[in-house]
Order: sequence, then structure tokens, then C-alpha cells
Amino acid sequence: MNLSRLALSLGQSATLKLNELASNLKAEGKPVIHLGGGEPEEKIPGGAFAESKKMLDGGFVRYTPVSGTRPLKSEIAAYTEQYYGVKPGPKNIVVASGAKQAIYNFLVSVVDPGDEVIFPAPYWVSYPEMVKLAYGTPVIVRPREGELLVKAEDIECHLTSRTKAILLNSPNNPSGQVYPEEFIRELVEICESRNVYLLMDDIYNRLVFDGLKAPSAFNFSKKPLNESNIVSINGVSKTFSMTGYRIGWSVANEAVTQAMIKVQAQVSSCPSALSQAAAAGALRDGGGFVETLRQGLEKKRDVMVAELAKLKKVKLHRPQGTFYSFADFGAYEKDSTKLSALLLEKAMVVTVPGIEFGLEGHLRLSYCGAEQDIVEGVGRIRKLLDQEVL
Ligand SMILES: Cc1ncc(COP(=O)(O)O)c(C=O)c1O
Repeated sequence: MNLSRLALSLGQSATLKLNELASNLKAEGKPVIHLGGGEPEEKIPGGAFAESKKMLDGGFVRYTPVSGTRPLKSEIAAYTEQYYGVKPGPKNIVVASGAKQAIYNFLVSVVDPGDEVIFPAPYWVSYPEMVKLAYGTPVIVRPREGELLVKAEDIECHLTSRTKAILLNSPNNPSGQVYPEEFIRELVEICESRNVYLLMDDIYNRLVFDGLKAPSAFNFSKKPLNESNIVSINGVSKTFSMTGYRIGWSVANEAVTQAMIKVQAQVSSCPSALSQAAAAGALRDGGGFVETLRQGLEKKRDVMVAELAKLKKVKLHRPQGTFYSFADFGAYEKDSTKLSALLLEKAMVVTVPGIEFGLEGHLRLSYCGAEQDIVEGVGRIRKLLDQEVL
């Protein structure tokens, strides 16, 4: 086969592969429990439904401006002002087909071949491959033994003259940890003094527990938005349970935004008009929706933590947000791919190997599904690993 070096160098998305596997097993009637998922089980917000329906009833679903419709951009501007304390204009926003495309637009816009993009482990599975798609070099910073968060100085010492950007996802997929204010402040200072972009992947920023808030990088910036090194990514996939609509966005200075618009224009023209209408509807009246979702996830987090605590040799940093837990199963088996395969084969439970997120010995277990699945799934794992009869 005559494939490009780039295509040959890319890995598959481990999580999407597992989702497919879980749904195939379910379709075959296997009693599989999916703790590998990455989307809430809730129905979409009423506003999203009403706006989609209105557009369908009208019968016109056309191209939109490349960077998104005016009504959605104005909702995004209001949302950003409310949750980040900075008000972007329409020239600072690009609506994309999911947060993933927004990250891709950014990387392709700023990375030259061989430029380095730094991000801490554990990281979202797609970061290394997305950096490679932009012909960049991923530079991974690992936390110290037993930790899930890196220190700002650990990142700083990886900076070189080729560093173009630092990517940070907080609250973090897979660890569920929230990087503290002091860390974000230091990171902003590093990026501004070294003239490096800081891409904040804020896709889980409202899904935080225990009264915590995910700090906004903009709060620590000394620069106005149009001179800022900070690019914030967000979307409706997770917080509004709208993964299938594929709407995300970026907030950045005008120059970066213009470059991202050029990229998107040539790749996908614009995000779906129907999905943009739905996203505007969700943002307009979805405040209560997000809070209900957040509270439900906090309860499920507690269930997951309590169930994992019953395993004799699991170590866990209590998740502070998202819908993932990232538990250290190294005392049972250090090879997470092997362990995950064993759990699927012998217990019919889908988990994601930690190595996919850059940290061996761990498994990511999601708690976005039904509570009974969390109890049953972790119970099966315990039965197998602790050889208990439940
Ligand atoms: C950290 C992180 N960023 C971005 C995304 C992509 O979001 P979207 O579905 O809006 O493309 C995900 C989805 O799993 C994610 O976990």
C-alpha cells in the first residue's frame, strides 16, 4: 500500500477503538460493562433540541460563515465572559466541529515542522498524534513518582528554542485532577516571558466537584486578549452532553484566530449549521442543565471512589472533576495493556490502559455511565483481582 509517512506514523485513537469494541460486544449480546466511555449518558438540553427542530422545520440547513454563526458566537462571548472574566469579540472566536478540530486548527496554525509542543502526562490520548499531524514534535513531561500533576518548573526545564506551545488540559482527562491556581499562574508567566503559546483545553472546566473551581489562565495574564499567548478551547460535547453534535470553539488573539479560520476553511468549510443552532440553544438556557449534570457526576464520582477503595491494592488520587478516575493498578500488574485485556476477557469490563495516556500501571475508569454499572463493573474487577467471592 502506498500510504504517506505521516499516515503510517499515526496511532489509532485507543478510546474510540474501545468504544467500538464495547458496542460490538453489546450488540452480540455479551454482558459487557463499559467503564471506558467518554460521554455523559444524559439527554441533550431542551434549548438544543428546540433550536435543532426549529431549523429542521424551516427546511434550510446551509453553509454558515467559516468561523461560525453570529448567534452562536455571541453566546460563546457571553459564556467566556461569565466563566473566564474576558470578553472576546467575534474576531477572537472560531467555532469548529468539536474541541478536537479546534485543537487541530490551532496546532496547524502555529507549529512549523520540527517545532516542539510540550504537555504533561497523563495526557489526553489524542495530543501526541495531533501534534504529529501538524508535523510537530510532542514533548511529554512526566509527573514525579506517585503524583498525577507536574510542577511548573518540570515544564519550564523542557522549554527549548523550538518550543511553540504548551498544552494543558485541566480538569484533566484521564486523571480527573484540577491543576491549582498557583501552577496556572506560573505557567502563564512562563509562556508570556518566553513568548510561547499556552493552549488551555478547558473542555471539562465546569465539571468540577467539592466546591472547587477550575482556574482560568486569562485571570493571570498581563496582556489584553488581542496580544495574549493564551488560547482557550471549549465546547458543548461534555458539559452539555452533546458529543454527537460536534461543536467546539477557540478563543484566541485575532492573528491566531485568522490563521485558524484559513485552516478550517480549507479543511471543512464550517461546522454543521444544525449543530451550531443547537449549541447556541444549549448555551442560552443550559445553566441549570450543566449544574444538574455536574451534581450527578459528583455523586457517581463518590460511588466510583468507594468501589475502588474496596480493592486491596489499588491506589487512587480522588478525582476533582471530569468523569474519569485514573487508578494505579501497578501492584496487580504493571503492564496496563495486558491488565485491561485480562479484565475484558475474564470480567467483561472495558477499561482504558494508562499507557495510552502516557502513564503505565494505571487504568482509566469512567463514571459517566449508570451507577449500577460502576458498582457491577468495579465489583467484577475486584472479584477477579482480589479473588473474592462477592
Ligand atoms: C481533553 C479532551 N479534549 C478534547 C476532547 C474532544 O472534544 P470534542 O468531542 O468536542 O471534539 C476530548 C474528548 O474526549 C477530551 O477528553
